[in-house]
Amino acid sequence: MIIKAAEFVISNTQINLCPEPIFPEFAFIGRSNVGKSSLINTLVGKRNLARISTHPGKTQTINHYIINNAWYLVDLPGYGFATTSQENRFEWSQMIERYLIERENLQCTFILLDARLVPQDKDLDFIRWLGGKEIPLALVLTKSDKLSRNELTRSVSHYQTTLLEIWEELPPFFISSAETKAGREELLNFIEEVMRRQDQID
Ligand code: GTP
Ligand code: MG
Repeated sequence: MIIKAAEFVISNTQINLCPEPIFPEFAFIGRSNVGKSSLINTLVGKRNLARISTHPGKTQTINHYIINNAWYLVDLPGYGFATTSQENRFEWSQMIERYLIERENLQCTFILLDARLVPQDKDLDFIRWLGGKEIPLALVLTKSDKLSRNELTRSVSHYQTTLLEIWEELPPFFISSAETKAGREELLNFIEEVMRRQDQID
């Protein structure tokens, strides 16, 4: 898919303030610092559309971007940010849960996982929760540039084995890097395919 236009629309903490759900929508979620905002920039081919930071906890709101005037990409705040207070964590989960459950135009939630880490309980809990709610999801292993080919193969296999303990079948699975742009084409093709399938149903 060719990205002709990518613009920021709105940033907010309430689902009722999100843009009208008139376009298909794809959201990015995962632990703080995993590279959600960077991946959005990589997909749209802009350096600074979504704000990124070396400090975890940069994105704190639901951020909508409109792509090709036809679909939304959504950058969400990360979970598992250690220095966030208990109260903030509760607010985070309320906001995100409402968004994920109620957003009717949400086509797929991409859960980002750091390729350098072994599967974390927080991630697996979250994946289970989404699966339980039947919210369509796909997985993305980020920062693949930080690993050698062998290390990456090992990491992919570790994630896949762990996931197959939860599910009989793997959800769509991608490997990405904001440095090398790995995974960009695959992710954009997948998004295009999901929208095409949705068109056929409508
Ligand atoms: P929060 O908004 O805090 O939840 O973080 P985030 O998941 O949006 O992460 P962000 O995109 O802000 O990136 C966090 C840090 O990781 C930044 O320093 C990025 O430059 C770096 N980073 C993100 N993706 C990659 C990648 O694919 N490769 C490498 N080497 N660094 C990356
Ligand atoms: Mg972010």
